[in-house]
Amino acid sequence: MRDLQGIKQRFGIIGNYPGLNRAIDIAVQVAPTDLSVLITGESGTGKEAFPQVIHYYSARKHGQYIAVNCGAIPEGTIDSELFGHEKGAFTGATESRKGYFEVADGGTIFLDEIAELPLSTQVRLLRVLETGEFIRVGSSKVQKTNVRVIAASNVDVVRAINEDKFREDLFYRLNTVPIKIPALRERSDDIFLLFRKFSVDFAEKYRMPAIRLSNEAKSILINYSWPGNVRQLKNITEQISIIESEREINAETLREYLPDYTAIKLPAIIKRDEEKTFSTEREILYKVLFDMRSDMNDLKKLVLDLIKTGDIDVDFHEANSGVLKNLFRDTRHEDHAATVPDKPGPELSHRHNSNIQDTEEVVEESLSLAGKEVEMIRKALEKYNGKRKMAAQELGISERTLYRKIKEYGLEM
Ligand SMILES: Nc1ncnc2c1ncn2[C@@H]1O[C@H](COP(=O)(O)OP(=O)(O)OP(=O)(O)O)[C@@H](O)[C@H]1O
Ligand SMILES: [Mg+2]
Repeated sequence: MRDLQGIKQRFGIIGNYPGLNRAIDIAVQVAPTDLSVLITGESGTGKEAFPQVIHYYSARKHGQYIAVNCGAIPEGTIDSELFGHEKGAFTGATESRKGYFEVADGGTIFLDEIAELPLSTQVRLLRVLETGEFIRVGSSKVQKTNVRVIAASNVDVVRAINEDKFREDLFYRLNTVPIKIPALRERSDDIFLLFRKFSVDFAEKYRMPAIRLSNEAKSILINYSWPGNVRQLKNITEQISIIESEREINAETLREYLPDYTAIKLPAIIKRDEEKTFSTEREILYKVLFDMRSDMNDLKKLVLDLIKTGDIDVDFHEANSGVLKNLFRDTRHEDHAATVPDKPGPELSHRHNSNIQDTEEVVEESLSLAGKEVEMIRKALEKYNGKRKMAAQELGISERTLYRKIKEYGLEM
């Protein structure tokens, strides 16, 4: 591999995370070929440097490099921007104009936010990728160009395909060489490195001493989920550099700059899944309670039928009147309750199907479940003097879940 450190220096890439090194390595390896490259990664992970690395290490180095943000160009003009137009092709087309694919002949085009391309433009793009041919808007003349295409996307292109927003054939054509840029939260060791670099840069820019972090703040920085990745880290470093007069930043101050601080170390996607699981758990609980209630009702009905068909004698009634009263109390209005075991009226069979009352009870029961949870968490925390790790072990949940629940129930000690 080429001099990795040299490449990083040249393109301002900070970090030593293996996944990042691997991405740079692939970029350099693929550079001298004319293969299309698709760069994916969450927003703010640093995708923009990669097409430049590829262009620089390719034979097209001295050709044009044009970066196009597909998401920023209005749908109505994008074909003309990319492929040019003839005079009079549309209202306002007073002159003919070359598009980027014509201008960048012999060079590289970087199509950022590729998933935003309208489907009709995707067809044109596929053609130019496959044959090198394109047609200016309003023309019928086929032209040739020799352009290397590098695309990037921070959204799930596969999902866009499933939603019929992105052509599958174009995806395969672009994705000849995929490069995935890891999320910042995966690069724990790089987070502080990046922070230090940014704080020094901003100190220079604003002519003031660089901000530093207390140990506790440092650990918060490293464990935060960074949904906005490197861009977010850069932004908050700049904000803190400007706003805070104290140069040593403590945990409390840092937290103020981290939105949704509780999302600690939860990758955006996993976090969503976790929340989903949690609500699913609750739904399952509801379902179990509902099922139990319906079983109960069936049982009651069975007993009732037994009573009605007279298979059970009077002694049974007398011996069990208390139990029967209890059993049927909650399926009826209070004023009917006392009469049920002796003379079940026809209304009973309707009543036990009424779910309105049942629903309220189920909610009540699950609320008290939440109450139990709070109590258990509180006890576990007390037992271990607030040591969350031990408490989580005792409760059989992850520390992260415990952390979330502590926040949720306001149980901070
Ligand atoms: N490894 C890195 N070292 C130094 N700076 C970085 C690094 N990665 C990203 N940055 C900086 O973070 C910011 C965001 O990076 P970039 O614009 O490349 O993100 P992106 O992946 O293109 O995001 P989006 O999908 O939102 O366009 C830029 O200012 C960039 O210079
Ligand atoms: Mg970008």
